[in-house]
Amino acid sequence: MKILALDTSCDDTSASVVANTTILSNIVSSQISLHQPYGGVYPTVAKLAHQQNVAPVTTLALKRAHLVFSDLDALGVTIGPGLAPALEIGINYARSLAQTHHLPLVAVNHLEGHLLSPLLRRHSLHQDIPSLPKSFPYPHTLGLIVSGGHSQFVAINDFGDYLTLGETLDDAAGEALDKIGRLLGLGYPAAPVMEELAKSGDSTLYPFPLPLTARHDANLSFSGLKTHAHHLITSLQQDHQLTRQDICNLAASAQAGVFRHLTYKLDRLLQPHPETASFTHLFLGGGVAANNYLRILLRQLGKKHHYTLHVPVSKRLCGDNAAMIALVAALKARAQLFASLDTVDRQPNLQLSSWDANK
Ligand code: KG4
Ligand code: ZN
Repeated sequence: MKILALDTSCDDTSASVVANTTILSNIVSSQISLHQPYGGVYPTVAKLAHQQNVAPVTTLALKRAHLVFSDLDALGVTIGPGLAPALEIGINYARSLAQTHHLPLVAVNHLEGHLLSPLLRRHSLHQDIPSLPKSFPYPHTLGLIVSGGHSQFVAINDFGDYLTLGETLDDAAGEALDKIGRLLGLGYPAAPVMEELAKSGDSTLYPFPLPLTARHDANLSFSGLKTHAHHLITSLQQDHQLTRQDICNLAASAQAGVFRHLTYKLDRLLQPHPETASFTHLFLGGGVAANNYLRILLRQLGKKHHYTLHVPVSKRLCGDNAAMIALVAALKARAQLFASLDTVDRQPNLQLSSWDANK
């Protein structure tokens, strides 16, 4: 199953060619420098950049994969969730390619891409390309998506069969880190800069509150941590101008606060339950999955709860990329789940759901 897929859901224009689960090419044109002056993604700017980049990025993805359109089995495109004007560019371009080259089109949920991204493999010239697994290869897998727009725990029963066990009630983990980092003057996106500064900081200096401890569900909430950071930073600033060491300590403390909430809720979710089998695998995906400190915490928790942590093979596959979209498209194409070119449309608020949810 050879797929070319596009993702234009937010601030990266990406095109990728995947053969089953193997990445043949993955081109990501980042718009970070364009959005930096605004301190966040500016939709009109994103739309314009996608418009300019989508065709060259697609051409390059095919070239790097040493393929032409007639070698492909299908096209894939992200239809949501994401920014409406940005999604529209990818969908329109994918539709026109499908018409011109007589290829079927698969509509892909961006969240499903992040969820399954640890299954992607690098291409090795000395190895044959493995076939698509018939069913999800790891029994009892819990997925954790942590990105700039979403944070959720998902039970993966099989490909296309998911159950959300908990999700954020307000901000996403990445969004909270970015907003706190912005208060510290770390630019956009601030979370990766925070990770670096936190290495030189003392994470115990400013303890953050632990949200939602009274609730026994697996839902998350990061907005209280953001408010706490705001008060803390303002009161310190009133006292004196923040030094570099202060900023490192605050970055370390805030990052620890955000991740402590995630690991606390995960620990709770994994408490032995008489009626349900325990999870033996944890799939981590989304931009925040690139964070080494989070990975260390999740591996530690894995020792206690006897699960194996699976992360994408490279950090580039944590952030937005079309390879994860192509992987989902390959699975859906095998199941003959194609979109109608007449009705395929953007769905900015699309939720993660099972494939048969609309039947
Ligand atoms: O998955 P993604 O690229 O886009 C969405 O679908 O939202 O995630 C982007 C998020 C941003 O909030 C970004 O700051 C965060 O991932 N991120 C990180 C790191 N690298 C990117 N968060 C923590 N540590 C990192 N190293
Ligand atoms: Zn994403």
